[in-house]
Amino acid sequence: MEIDLTPRSAAASRVSLSIVIMPGEANFYGTLHGGVMLRLADECGAIAALRHVGHGQITTAAMDSMIFLGPVFVGERVEAIAEVTYVGRSSVESRIEIFAERLERADRRKIGVGYGLYVALDDNARRHEQVPPLLSETAADHRRDEFARARQAIRLARRAEIRAEAQAEREQGDSQ
Ligand SMILES: CC(C)(COP(=O)(O)OP(=O)(O)OC[C@H]1O[C@@H](n2cnc3c(N)ncnc32)[C@H](O)[C@@H]1OP(=O)(O)O)[C@@H](O)C(=O)NCCC(=O)NCCS
Repeated sequence: MEIDLTPRSAAASRVSLSIVIMPGEANFYGTLHGGVMLRLADECGAIAALRHVGHGQITTAAMDSMIFLGPVFVGERVEAIAEVTYVGRSSVESRIEIFAERLERADRRKIGVGYGLYVALDDNARRHEQVPPLLSETAADHRRDEFARARQAIRLARRAEIRAEAQAEREQGDSQ
């Protein structure tokens, strides 16, 4: 298949997902379990990344800096909104914002922000696919790119650290 590598705008990837919080999704304090929010965030970020790529599959390589600003209660609507903020050769970062609102009143509040880093794979989930570049035209786009490159450098340094730890643990296991 011919892959379309035409640069795409961040706005073209924008997507939202929402759920209503049920009692089974609350923790023992009666507020939303953080894991439910992370799952929604990851799904929404992955869809934005997939929209940017336009074919194949997406896998999550990292979820980072998810900051929770306040609790969510059973019966509220929670909405995640994601948009691509960085692309490398085969990697795509999405910024994910999460909002909550009571069903009877449309005054949503921001309750979380984070980033997901996804890797584009081919239809058979085998090869890393080259992804279309992200359009960068305005001064705001350039600032976005600069911050995103800094976040990606931190992730890669963290991955190197974790890989080294795992290698050291394997070697220690072998020598026991
Ligand atoms: C993500 C995965 C496919 C990367 O495979 P890999 O062989 O290590 O890939 P590479 O080192 O060639 O990385 C591919 C790209 O992803 C980026 N990347 C991979 N892991 C990353 C991480 N932890 N943080 C940031 N970027 C990462 C690389 O920088 C590279 O980017 P580029 O192509 O834009 O330059 C592999 O680690 C994997 O399958 N992980 C498990 C994914 C999964 O199951 N997710 C769901 C968890 S529940």
